[in-house]
Amino acid sequence: EHQEKESLYIVLKFATEYFQDILKNHPEGKSIGYSYLRERGFSDAIIQKFELGYSTEAWDGLLKAATEKGYSIDLLEKAGLIILKEEKKYDRFRGRVIFPIHHPSGKPIAFGARMLGSDKKQPKYLNSPETPVYHKSNVLYGMHLAKRPIRQQDNCYLVEGYTDVISLHLCGIENVVASSGTSLTVEQIRLIGRYSKHITVLYDGDPAGLRASLRGIDLILEGGLQARVVVFPDGEDPDSYSRKLGATAFAAYLQQEATDFVVFKTQLLLKEAGKDPLRRTEVAREVVSSIALLQDPMAQAVYIKECSQLLNIDEPVLTAELQKVTRRKA
Ligand code: UTP
Ligand code: MN
Ligand code: MN
Ligand code: MN
Ligand code: MN
Repeated sequence: EHQEKESLYIVLKFATEYFQDILKNHPEGKSIGYSYLRERGFSDAIIQKFELGYSTEAWDGLLKAATEKGYSIDLLEKAGLIILKEEKKYDRFRGRVIFPIHHPSGKPIAFGARMLGSDKKQPKYLNSPETPVYHKSNVLYGMHLAKRPIRQQDNCYLVEGYTDVISLHLCGIENVVASSGTSLTVEQIRLIGRYSKHITVLYDGDPAGLRASLRGIDLILEGGLQARVVVFPDGEDPDSYSRKLGATAFAAYLQQEATDFVVFKTQLLLKEAGKDPLRRTEVAREVVSSIALLQDPMAQAVYIKECSQLLNIDEPVLTAELQKVTRRKA
């Protein structure tokens, strides 16, 4: 089994280099893939840093190159690179820009592959399947580059997408990882927690992103880490918004807009509840349920006070609710 993993790392490294070579040297890679990335504002240096690549439209581009090098069909299939169906075998990723996904040590373990343009019939990103070396729920995109910066800044920015990570790097912000569109897991939070106890959530500025932020926050608190949130205007994500503002203004925006989870959650839910007193009570209950996830009683007390001011509800009422929730959990 150890042997098999080693072989997978080797073939995944080969594939990464193959896709990089296609992007740089193949006519289709240069005219389609490379120009797509340049149009998105990605420099040669950043393309190199993230080892971005391109897969041609051909059904057997990688298949041919890899089998010529002696890699077996079985290994290529196990690595998630080719698909075996009935009598046919073909490349999983075709006509797409390739974003290698790395193990924290820097080894490529999977790929995200973006289509060019916007054909509504296909998924925008195709991703590697689960393999013996790739367990999606344990992986954060960009962690191999972010480990040291997260520790140095004592904060981790958490974004949704591959291109969000890359654009933050272009702004000089390297303490950033992506959950890659799937909902955050306990393992991912534990991984971040090795480097810092502070997470700032930068999800897309759309209703889905806000919902995901709320879910993410509770998971972060349960993991014993601290959560802050930055909200983006509707329709913007960190990639698009950093491009709009430029590096300096974007960095300032992150500094200024970072909001503690209690304030974020309370304000968001209050906006939805309006003046309806019963719905405001529900908001209080919801916020207190997040505060109950905190492991530190002192922190709980501080947040109850804050929450009391924001909701204009007396502290003892909230404290009683907190005790009720805590007892229910015990
Ligand atoms: P988004 O739809 O926000 O894409 O999904 P994006 O990252 O902004 O991508 P661009 O800017 O249009 O290129 C966020 C993340 O969800 C995952 C990807 O990891 C993506 O980066 N995703 C999204 C998929 O895996 N498959 C999809 O079809 C769409
Ligand atoms: Mn395993
Ligand atoms: Mn989105
Ligand atoms: Mn997005
Ligand atoms: Mn985007």
